[in-house]
Amino acid sequence: MRFFITGTAGFIGFHLARKLLQDGHEVVGYDGMTPYYSLRLKEARNAGLVQFPAFRFVEGMLEDKALLSETVTSFKPDVIVHLAAQAGVRYSLENPKAYLDSNLIGSWNILEIAREAKVGHLMLASTSSVYGANPDIPFREIDKADEPLTFYAASKKAMEAMAHSYAHLYKIPTTAFRFFTVYGPWGRPDMALFKFVKAMIDDQEIEVYGEGKMSRDFTYIDDLVDSIADLASVQPVEGNRVASIDTLSAQGPFRTVNLGGGQPVGLLDFIDVIERVMGKPARRKMLPMQQGDVPRTFASPDLLLALTGRKPETGLEVGVEAFVRWYLDHRAEID
Ligand SMILES: NC(=O)c1ccc[n+]([C@@H]2O[C@H](COP(=O)([O-])OP(=O)(O)OC[C@H]3O[C@@H](n4cnc5c(N)ncnc54)[C@H](O)[C@@H]3O)[C@@H](O)[C@H]2O)c1
Repeated sequence: MRFFITGTAGFIGFHLARKLLQDGHEVVGYDGMTPYYSLRLKEARNAGLVQFPAFRFVEGMLEDKALLSETVTSFKPDVIVHLAAQAGVRYSLENPKAYLDSNLIGSWNILEIAREAKVGHLMLASTSSVYGANPDIPFREIDKADEPLTFYAASKKAMEAMAHSYAHLYKIPTTAFRFFTVYGPWGRPDMALFKFVKAMIDDQEIEVYGEGKMSRDFTYIDDLVDSIADLASVQPVEGNRVASIDTLSAQGPFRTVNLGGGQPVGLLDFIDVIERVMGKPARRKMLPMQQGDVPRTFASPDLLLALTGRKPETGLEVGVEAFVRWYLDHRAEID
């Protein structure tokens, strides 16, 4: 199949593109190489992809509708996977406009392009942050998710709503994933695992927010991209409606799906795992909750399981070990 993927120099886009290429698909990757974090890391990921003859990279911003349109029209993809975004919860407190530009204007451009290209399946990256501080656990896709705590979460929720309207109006089959704290090799330097491991190697303190009382449902990157690949061929259409727990809309071919394993881990237990893997204790600096942080995330994986027959299973220790090994091998080329 032919996949057009935005955000291929990013953490998840890189892994997804590599997996699809290894599986024999054709991929055009599109990324603006934004300076939110180390460009050397983005370049190193891209260098890993351009080695595949079936990969073509286009450097461009989501806001550049003409370039997007030209790229997609000439490639004629079967599937568009829209991962490029301004990510990060905390950064959205200081830079809301970056989220408006990339996640609203940029995502709207993707919707317009999907409409023009009459793409067979549009897949979009949303986030567990849309559940806000929802006290009902596990988080199910059919639960209320309309009290976002940050502008990041609000921008993703708005993207879901915009996409629903396009699915209804123009019959674009659309799946919006809600990712739960994805981690693994080639991960993001602004996320806890990367920051903690780096600080521990440099003998620096690690900053533990919420006095360590938060918990997160961590999803290992290989499991995540397997789920995306599985879902690429699961069209959001009546024929595959899952009774009672499905979010498949009655108004158009649109569905939201949690991509998480449903095994949340407390922040202190997470740090214990990192300490065990690294064989050294962390110097912990306990700090209060940060503005916009949610106390917990906890995915119900039932819909994913019903649609694809599997869910993320990789144990945290295995995943953290893979990350640490990768980081030690690649540190010099990405910092
Ligand atoms: N990593 C996670 O735990 C997580 C959790 C929930 C949701 N998500 C979502 O998954 C997607 C991928 O996340 P990631 O962790 O790979 O992030 P990432 O920051 O590593 O990748 C995003 C990529 O998009 C590109 N980009 C950003 N704005 C752009 C723009 N306006 N035009 C063109 N390119 C642009 C960046 O250069 C970057 O390479 C994002 O939509 C993110 O919001 C990620």
